[in-house]
Amino acid sequence: IFPMSKQYNHTSWLITRYDDVKELLKSQSFIKDQSKLFSPAEREKNPNDMEINIFQHMMLDVDPPDHTRLRRLVQPFFNPKSIRAMEPRIQTVADTLIEEMRHKDGPLDLIDDFAFPLPIIVISELLGVPAEDRNSFRQWSNTIVAAADEFEESFIEDVQAFSTYLTKLFEERRNNPQDDLISKLLQAEEEGEKLHTQELYSMVVLLIIAGHETTVNLIANTMYALFQHPDQLKQLKEDHSFIESAIEEGLRFYSPVDFSTARWAGEDMSFRGKEIKRGDFVVASLSSANRDEAKFEAADTFDITRKDNQHLAFGLGIHFCLGAPLARLEGKIALQTLFTAFPYIHLAPSAQPKWKEIFLLRGLEKLEV
Ligand code: HEM
Repeated sequence: IFPMSKQYNHTSWLITRYDDVKELLKSQSFIKDQSKLFSPAEREKNPNDMEINIFQHMMLDVDPPDHTRLRRLVQPFFNPKSIRAMEPRIQTVADTLIEEMRHKDGPLDLIDDFAFPLPIIVISELLGVPAEDRNSFRQWSNTIVAAADEFEESFIEDVQAFSTYLTKLFEERRNNPQDDLISKLLQAEEEGEKLHTQELYSMVVLLIIAGHETTVNLIANTMYALFQHPDQLKQLKEDHSFIESAIEEGLRFYSPVDFSTARWAGEDMSFRGKEIKRGDFVVASLSSANRDEAKFEAADTFDITRKDNQHLAFGLGIHFCLGAPLARLEGKIALQTLFTAFPYIHLAPSAQPKWKEIFLLRGLEKLEV
């Protein structure tokens, strides 16, 4: 546990060990809702000049009972049974992308051509976002993630455009409900108590961003780790039954989400030997916990046969990733389809994989194969 810096007379802590991270994520003493601790002037700045603040009241940023109410609304769409029902469609999307890749000359970019479009198409269809709008979503979602803690003009403009777009989409869907998640959320919003308008925007934005920016890294990072370990790549190509454990090891070894989101100490406490004060800011390094040698044998070794892989890549506790079953299924289908279609797939000689220089997410800029 490291004290990082002072902010508003409070200390910031970075938690790096597996057991400490686990305890933090499960603890009810660390909270998400800053309004319980700080006055508006003390709180983090937000682009509050907007009519609708699309980041406020995200399920990821609130505590029970609001969190319980919001999560309950969307949980049925993401439970294992609903996700299993999506399998044939995800397979079709993967097959279509592979067909398009076959018709391209030269090296392919596994990210642009495959790992990126697959989860986007899936989450857009689940929500009910028209296919022709996906490119705008990509831009907005990229800007928001890349500049997550900056408030530049271009950032505000993109956020505004995103919000305006959603207003139009919601209007259209209210008049013409479909069998999609947005229509279900609009229905809940009309019933008042279940979902406030502000929460509706934040929910859709959270799902779009989470669905756009994470699973792409799971697929590409796992493939990259396999290319770096040819013996294991060979083993996997010969026996696809290792795909699920390879995905879990990819999640642990190159965790797509480096850090948990922020939490604040709700009270003065002694936490694993450190005195933490009410209002202190706390963040967990998931990727560090996932390489903790006290928890994982040969923690820095990529091993697709690793047993009992209890990584924390999806977090833990009440904010445990809602999309984990979907991300796991997409990852499995992606690898299975790639290795079946391209049994000799390898890194292109010209490839120069480079990690993106952004906070929070771990992903490659390109992966030429
Ligand atoms: C929460 C990781 C994919 C939706 C989280 C958290 C992590 C995470 C670490 C918890 C953060 C915290 O406690 O501070 C990942 C990874 C993914 C992935 C590594 C892919 C490999 C997805 C997908 C969706 C999604 C595909 C939805 C389509 C969410 C939501 C939450 C969440 C809604 C908030 C849950 C809550 O507050 O109760 N994710 N995620 N995630 N994730 Fe994911």
